[in-house]
Amino acid sequence: MNKDRSYSITLESFTFFCFTGIIFVIDLVMPLGVVSSNLYILPVCASLFLSKEEKHIKTTTILSLLLIIVAVILSTEKLTLVLITSRLISILLVISTYLLCASYRSQYHLKVKSEEKLKISNDELEKFAYIASHDLKAPIRGIGNVASFLEDDLEDFFNTDNEYVPTIKKNITRIRQQVTKMQNLIKGILEYSKVNSSNKELEEFNLKKLVNQIIKEESETSPFKYSLKIDSIQLVTQKVKLTQVISNLINNAVKYHDNIDKGLIEVRSRLLSNKVEISIKDDGPGIETRFHDKIFEMFQTLDPKDNIESTGVGLAIVKKIVNSKGGQINIESKIGRGTNFIFTWPINENLH
Ligand SMILES: Nc1ncnc2c1ncn2[C@@H]1O[C@H](COP(=O)(O)OP(=O)(O)O)[C@@H](O)[C@H]1O
Ligand SMILES: [Mg+2]
Repeated sequence: MNKDRSYSITLESFTFFCFTGIIFVIDLVMPLGVVSSNLYILPVCASLFLSKEEKHIKTTTILSLLLIIVAVILSTEKLTLVLITSRLISILLVISTYLLCASYRSQYHLKVKSEEKLKISNDELEKFAYIASHDLKAPIRGIGNVASFLEDDLEDFFNTDNEYVPTIKKNITRIRQQVTKMQNLIKGILEYSKVNSSNKELEEFNLKKLVNQIIKEESETSPFKYSLKIDSIQLVTQKVKLTQVISNLINNAVKYHDNIDKGLIEVRSRLLSNKVEISIKDDGPGIETRFHDKIFEMFQTLDPKDNIESTGVGLAIVKKIVNSKGGQINIESKIGRGTNFIFTWPINENLH
């Protein structure tokens, strides 16, 4: 391993020396002037952008500076003021190129490092969310079971006309509802934390067929009308993830519609160079502009808190999935004018 590394370093430095050497030969052959002396910037730039080792960049810069002077010493040309000035300008240019590119380089490395750090802390957070939500499942299920035991134990009591019967029954139902809500929340957190870590297998499939299949399943449980204008294109991507995004948005359009018998959902696609834009539009109640960003945040729901179905996790997962594919999701909506969710998705993930 170490041997390989030292070999590659030698080869790398040799390449930069050769490059500087070639420039030196050109400089000697050509009449000494501004053009030839400025060519020394090239090996300095090459080493700055191509080499990972700081020492190569420094040596190439020092070598270039030396050769600018050596070329004058070896030259048979007469030393004029113009010649000295052009050489001085070249020295200054090489130094400033080094300083400029070095500062750009260090900024770039700083950015890469902080991105790496951010990724590590995100991974840790996701792992924590996964473990915490996984471990919470058992005690919550336990609470649900205790509610059932209570109901069984109190069966005879419930058959009496004791005045507390309705209240106790109502409270046990409440416990059950809260347990279901907590279970939904935990399921959401688990799903959210698994977005980046789950199986990333790519599949080839037809977008139109996939949308038709999702709609078919959805229309089994709701009497909504659908209008589809989907391109019949082949996608190479994670089918499960795209299905999750489209299903979630269609499910929302149905779930939050104010007329459960007469909703219309339009699903459209539009081809952009290497991605496809998919929109899911409903004619439901719409969402106020001030909530357009908020609804994509975790646990943000516009529904009353006691609605056990609404956890506010769905759109956060949708956004995370879309962003993980390099796409964007936007919303167009006004109160009373329906809602349109538009997102982009890569056509072929193998090409990214
Ligand atoms: N198509 C829609 N029409 C109206 N409101 C919507 C629509 N989609 C989402 N919302 C609102 O955005 C909130 C967040 O949605 P989401 O994150 O999917 O929550 P949940 O997981 O509870 O469905 C919902 O509580 C709902 O009020
Ligand atoms: Mg939802």
